[in-house]
Amino acid sequence: MKMQNPTMADYATLAKTIASLTEGETDMVALMATVACELHHSDDRFDWTGFYRVTEPGLLKIGPYQGGHGCLVIPFERGVCGAAARTGEVQLVPDVDAFPGHIACASSTRSEIVLPVRNASGEIIAVLDIDSDQPDAFTEEDSVALDAILTATFAR
Ligand code: SME
Repeated sequence: MKMQNPTMADYATLAKTIASLTEGETDMVALMATVACELHHSDDRFDWTGFYRVTEPGLLKIGPYQGGHGCLVIPFERGVCGAAARTGEVQLVPDVDAFPGHIACASSTRSEIVLPVRNASGEIIAVLDIDSDQPDAFTEEDSVALDAILTATFAR
């Protein structure tokens, strides 16, 4: 993490880049890998960026990601990712220590945002998890912009 001149995502440019890189692609892993990569390198707040996929009812398994290793399996009942998958609502967590059941894969994580990922039928197929070593790193603006990218990529 750079402390000087921090880079923050330019979401308008990112959305265009991801749209052009993934045009015509329908393979979910190819799409997730590309989105994880593009997001991760666009913003110094993003220390872990990746997907957990719904592989059977009530269960998330690790998908494409960037950063240190992530837990392989997360049941819907557990953690921030589980809460997003279970409720279908974005989880914006300013302080992970205050979130009951938070799964600490990296002790450096201070805050995170997790968004449900829906396909064209509206089914939740995954969650996007972004973890930051900075406290209170994410805003409603991130939520709106990330959700728009996910919809454009996975629900088309
Ligand atoms: N912060 C997540 C899990 C972290 S990872 O495995 C990268 C959670 O509590 O759902």
